[in-house]
Amino acid sequence: MITPVILCGGSGTRLWPRSRKAKPKPFLPLVGETTLFEASVLRCSIDAGFAPPIVVTGAQHLDHVVDQLPDPAASQIIVEPEGKNTAAAIALAALRLPADAIMLVCPSDHHIGDCDAFQTAAKAAAKLAADDWLVSFGIAATSPETGFGYLKQGDPIEGTGGRKVERFVEKPDLERAQAFLADGGYAWNGGIFAFRAGHFLDELAKHRPDIAGAVRAAVDKGRSDGNAFHPDPAEFAKITGESVDYAVMEKTDRAAMVPATMAWSDIGNWQALHEALDKDDLGNATKGRVELKNCSNVLVHTDGPRVSVVGASNLIVVVDGDEILVCTPEGAQLVGKLQGAANQ
Ligand code: GDD
Ligand code: MG
Repeated sequence: MITPVILCGGSGTRLWPRSRKAKPKPFLPLVGETTLFEASVLRCSIDAGFAPPIVVTGAQHLDHVVDQLPDPAASQIIVEPEGKNTAAAIALAALRLPADAIMLVCPSDHHIGDCDAFQTAAKAAAKLAADDWLVSFGIAATSPETGFGYLKQGDPIEGTGGRKVERFVEKPDLERAQAFLADGGYAWNGGIFAFRAGHFLDELAKHRPDIAGAVRAAVDKGRSDGNAFHPDPAEFAKITGESVDYAVMEKTDRAAMVPATMAWSDIGNWQALHEALDKDDLGNATKGRVELKNCSNVLVHTDGPRVSVVGASNLIVVVDGDEILVCTPEGAQLVGKLQGAANQ
């Protein structure tokens, strides 16, 4: 059985004003009525043959997690005293599982359009993980994004549908990202991973013994409280924060990938959300009380006031409480730099 490990960490600034520190992106119903966190859990439900999930989250998000988990009592929640990035978060979950458990590590802030394709890829990835591959979901790269990891696809691993990853490059600069795209042999790392728990811990100990040792100490001195587990805060504070991509995936020689042929978006900004949403014939998408006339390629999200837009193209309008954001699709990249977003 596959144990979903749902990572629910940082709070970004690029979907301000809807996403705020107090209620960040995973806990918002950005696509449809289900929040991104709820959707991440439902994709790996017990009904679909998965084991009950482990959620790794910060103390400040615990209430949202408990509220939104379909069955909190059946889940394990690991509560981090502070964020130490994904290598530590995954190691925490791995240490709470038997060495032979297969973990499917899922971000909680992505949109995935096709649940069947996701589950098919998860099963293929789990088989490879059982043979001690560290498996990424590979997403067809369509633009030279610098915010993603890139997987250079190597030889097929016979009978599995997966391939070796010759090289894993996390967040290349634009020039390298363009070269990878032109090369054609690279996929994006979808940020979804399958590992055998014991193997992941061995690889972390090999490449980052400091992180592996510090997380183990925090777990050894941690305490359980019902189905929540609290690592020891003093030991946890000693962990170096590093993402799994740099700490393990770039360094290991056991990286593999499964192609994931599903609509996928990390919803990195309002423009990316617009792309992920269902649109009318003119490319408009709306949520809340909105009236559009003669508009094309317009996204409007409002949580209350009616928004009326006439004759506009390529525009994004977001209303949240007493904050209003108006930007162009290109401007969406810079939303995180606004003072409102910084002071949220
Ligand atoms: N529990 C916990 N604790 N979760 C965390 C922490 C933490 O300290 N830090 C991050 N996370 C969660 C985030 O909430 C998110 O769901 C997931 O881990 C990935 O973290 P991001 O910070 O969003 O990573 P990224 O987007 O920069 O890069 C990763 O994802 C890309 C795809 O979206 C990498 O894996 C890239 O290689 C990949 O392409
Ligand atoms: Mg991300």
